[in-house]
Amino acid sequence: MQKTLSLFLLLFVALGLRAASPLPIIPYPQTVEIKNGKCDAPAGFSVVNNDSAFAGDADFLSDRLAAAGRLAAANRKGRSISFRLDPSITAPEGYKLDISRKAVTISASGSAGAFYGVQTLLQLIDNCAELPCVSINDAPRYAWRGYMRDDARHFTGVESVKQLLDLMAYYKLNRFHWHLTDAQGWRIEIKKYPRLATVGGVGSHSDPDSPCAYYTQDEIHDIVRYAADRHIMIIPEIDMPGHATAANRAYPEYNGGGEGIFPDFTFNPGKEETYTFLSDILAEVAGLFPGPYIHIGGDEVAYGINAWKTDPHVLALMKREGFTDVRQCERYFMNRMISQVSHLGKTLIGWDELLDLDVDESTGIMWWRHDKPGYLVRSLTAGYPTVLCPRKPLYFDFVQHDGHTVGRVWDGFCPLGDVYAFPDPWFDSIGVTPRQQSHILGLQANAWSELLHNSRRVDFMTWPRLCAVAESAWTQAANKNFESFESRLDDAYRLFDKLGIYYFDHRDPAHHAEPAGPVIKKKSRESETDYRD
Ligand code: ACM
Repeated sequence: MQKTLSLFLLLFVALGLRAASPLPIIPYPQTVEIKNGKCDAPAGFSVVNNDSAFAGDADFLSDRLAAAGRLAAANRKGRSISFRLDPSITAPEGYKLDISRKAVTISASGSAGAFYGVQTLLQLIDNCAELPCVSINDAPRYAWRGYMRDDARHFTGVESVKQLLDLMAYYKLNRFHWHLTDAQGWRIEIKKYPRLATVGGVGSHSDPDSPCAYYTQDEIHDIVRYAADRHIMIIPEIDMPGHATAANRAYPEYNGGGEGIFPDFTFNPGKEETYTFLSDILAEVAGLFPGPYIHIGGDEVAYGINAWKTDPHVLALMKREGFTDVRQCERYFMNRMISQVSHLGKTLIGWDELLDLDVDESTGIMWWRHDKPGYLVRSLTAGYPTVLCPRKPLYFDFVQHDGHTVGRVWDGFCPLGDVYAFPDPWFDSIGVTPRQQSHILGLQANAWSELLHNSRRVDFMTWPRLCAVAESAWTQAANKNFESFESRLDDAYRLFDKLGIYYFDHRDPAHHAEPAGPVIKKKSRESETDYRD
């Protein structure tokens, strides 16, 4: 009797603990009902799909199960995983996942929802010894769940981008902002102007003479397809009219100059040929990337704009247009590029400096200057679709621990907890109303790469902070819980270990020591700069 009682007690505690502990899923779903029992699948799983809308998602699931050794052999009956079209699921990207003892069902009204149901199921399969019976009803808080990679300062390459896209998909991130051009390198092949890649692609932030590196158009087609299979939209960025040094190295005839530590920083807004050149480039970019957006930067033009004051072509433009200030040339330049983007059938997106140029209200704004919250309020009040990516806490070139020394620290840094807490405390402190919040597209982390010169440093600065962004962008604020998130990171760390990803474990900082930063070689063509310091 005594023994039976203790057994009961043990079972009770175990059940209680199970009920209290979260499912091993990042980002955490909106509603989770844990039921009794397990769905054991000794023969593996069989994927059943009769709806063409879900064909790609079903194939993705089969491939992943096969890779994990969990797909039932052709001659064996595995536990079925079925896809079901359910038009009553109206939330964009929403899905339901039902796991019973005998079967698994993923319901969605569209392919993206089914794909996210697949990711949730894969995380449960990866992280649970036995698949629990559950009913999950889920949809994202924000439509834009993004990450920006800076391939201009240090180039990463196709395989690295694909691994990133794999992990982004696993954590339900869906926007890959690709910073492809900057002062240190031009990383995209443009057929009409080949020197952009072959000359502008030479060098990096740490070595101005490092071998030429860029993505060919064939590689870009391949990556775009790979991303689309994972429901990830790519937003290419061609930064202008500043950050143009690498392009100016290749085609000096469009150079608008710069000054001091920012030589050759701008395109020349006074030359008509500049508009032809940039319009041709944007036309090729528009053809390569099927997504609706083209990002044309627009940031930090002030670093080079003084050169325009004495440039004869700019002076001629000012005279012709009756301008009294070079800032009017910036606006003129941007307006011409904006109409080119719209002529190409794309929507413009750019950094928050665009707000000073009174751009059209359909323009997407990326609010990055955390120390200028007024720009966020302006953007939202005017109704611009706005992505939140403030330096603090969403720039991943900031360090994440007070013992770290490689990376930016600006009156604080970007620890995991701050990344996770964003954005709701900010709304309260800035006074962003619910009505203003309705214009927020979502969240994005930006991994500027001046000091992220190899995969070890890219990974270390990205993971697990990007998991925190994924949860903040997907999970409703009321369902977020940092302690629960921390406990679920153990599964992420196991995955990262398996993939050879060098992450930072904030609970055990000694686990992976901070990797050394780049040794910056003396620049032969450019002075050493950090554009955002
Ligand atoms: C930026 O960090 N210059 C957008």
